[in-house]
Amino acid sequence: MALLVALTGCAADPEASGESSGETGTGTAAEVTTAASAAAESSSTTLEIPPGSPTFYEDVLPVIAAQCMGCHTPGGIGVFDLADYEIAKTLASALTAQTAVRAMPPFVASNTGECNTFTDARWLTDDEIDLFARWEQAGAPQGDASLPRPVPPTADGLVGEEILALRSPADYVPVADDAGGADDYQCFLVDPEVVDTARYLIGYEVAPGNPAVTHHLIGFLVDPEGTTPFGGTNGSLMASLDAASPDQLGWDCYGAAGNGVLVQGTPVTWAPGGGAFNFPEGTGIRIDPGYQLVLQMHYNLAAGQEAAQTEVRLSMVDEVEREAVNALDDRFLATLFNGTSVEIPPGESSFVWKWQAPIREWDSRISGWEKVEILGMLPHMHGLGRRMQVTIHSGDTEQCGIYVDRWDFNWQQAFMYETPIVVSPSDQLEIVCDWDTSAKDTPTTPGLGTGNEMCLLGIYVAEAK
Ligand code: HEC
Repeated sequence: MALLVALTGCAADPEASGESSGETGTGTAAEVTTAASAAAESSSTTLEIPPGSPTFYEDVLPVIAAQCMGCHTPGGIGVFDLADYEIAKTLASALTAQTAVRAMPPFVASNTGECNTFTDARWLTDDEIDLFARWEQAGAPQGDASLPRPVPPTADGLVGEEILALRSPADYVPVADDAGGADDYQCFLVDPEVVDTARYLIGYEVAPGNPAVTHHLIGFLVDPEGTTPFGGTNGSLMASLDAASPDQLGWDCYGAAGNGVLVQGTPVTWAPGGGAFNFPEGTGIRIDPGYQLVLQMHYNLAAGQEAAQTEVRLSMVDEVEREAVNALDDRFLATLFNGTSVEIPPGESSFVWKWQAPIREWDSRISGWEKVEILGMLPHMHGLGRRMQVTIHSGDTEQCGIYVDRWDFNWQQAFMYETPIVVSPSDQLEIVCDWDTSAKDTPTTPGLGTGNEMCLLGIYVAEAK
């Protein structure tokens, strides 16, 4: 190994290797191969690096900086530092495997273009995936360690002048709950301070107090005066959920803002590695006076049980050109309350259920619009979910809305279209959910708990200009 490193350093010097400058990539690899095979003659191990092989510093690290270092950095949620050659080399086969199946970087919706493309997609090109494989096959060569280090892209800044900072409690210590040992899901009530007249949310950003612990955050909009499906108000239900665990700040929640709490939308969805999220220019989500936000935090228990305070910064304005409506619907969950309760049978590697409804039924405001611009979607299932597909039916024609082909509860988020889709309020959205119950021996019912399932679609829409 010492020999290889010394030779690489030498070959990368154009004068010493006699090469024309600027060709260090392939030149270095070829040089090393010759030298390595020469060295192999006197030893029993062959260190063959095929000519033209990608190297870590020339080829792989730039992709890692752009696509992985938002999380795989010291102190980050991604545990290991992938900018460290020795670490990346040890993990070379895992990097190939995880990127090949698109498990990493995590992004559960297909972004190939066959079913739309999304802003800020964590998505590798096929060539980048191939690069990890070719680098591993070549023996994970290092390349020229003296090259300047690529810098991860700078994150988007939060647009707006009036930024309201809301915080999760500083003293909350994550603890395993019903959801199992991997993550702790906890809800906290915060106040967006909208008092007399409605205001609009035009963007947000999240600053985790301890990035190694904060896996995920969803901000649900809740009307404390609203009536829950069980009767009583959201406000009193949340107070009793909180009071039920006097030893913990906040309350356990999994499917939404806590069992029975009726939520209006999910204006904030955040996963590590991203910058600020700004809603499309001129649009904003209305927050009515008195409405509250429930922050659902996902704490990564593998990183230890440390207290960490997370800050959510909301960019608020008094008026917007176009009000964006963020609304949720789940007709699978609704069967619980309308007497047609569906059960998902156990022992099925794939069980499919579908529902459909005109887009105007997501929110009454939509009915009054001539045309609807769909800005984004938020698909949501629980732990048994495999796939989810949304199709938009306009008369006899249909188009793909979103295709989630690798559902993972840990990486749920809102997906905003690079090119928004314009439809009529009467056009239908068809939602197909697909679950895997092969590990279960009892039926699964709809619900908000960890043992239940959902088939929810949130939409972000505005009246088309
Ligand atoms: C948004 C954050 C994020 C990004 C971006 C990301 N990762 Fe990860 N990665 C994680 C987390 C968190 C884990 C731990 C397992 C989990 O929670 O899924 C992980 C685990 C892994 C693992 C180990 C998987 C296992 O179970 O053995 C590999 C390998 C990996 N990531 C590679 C990559 C590569 C390569 C990239 C870039 C192309 C990347 N990751 C980008 C967050 C991220």
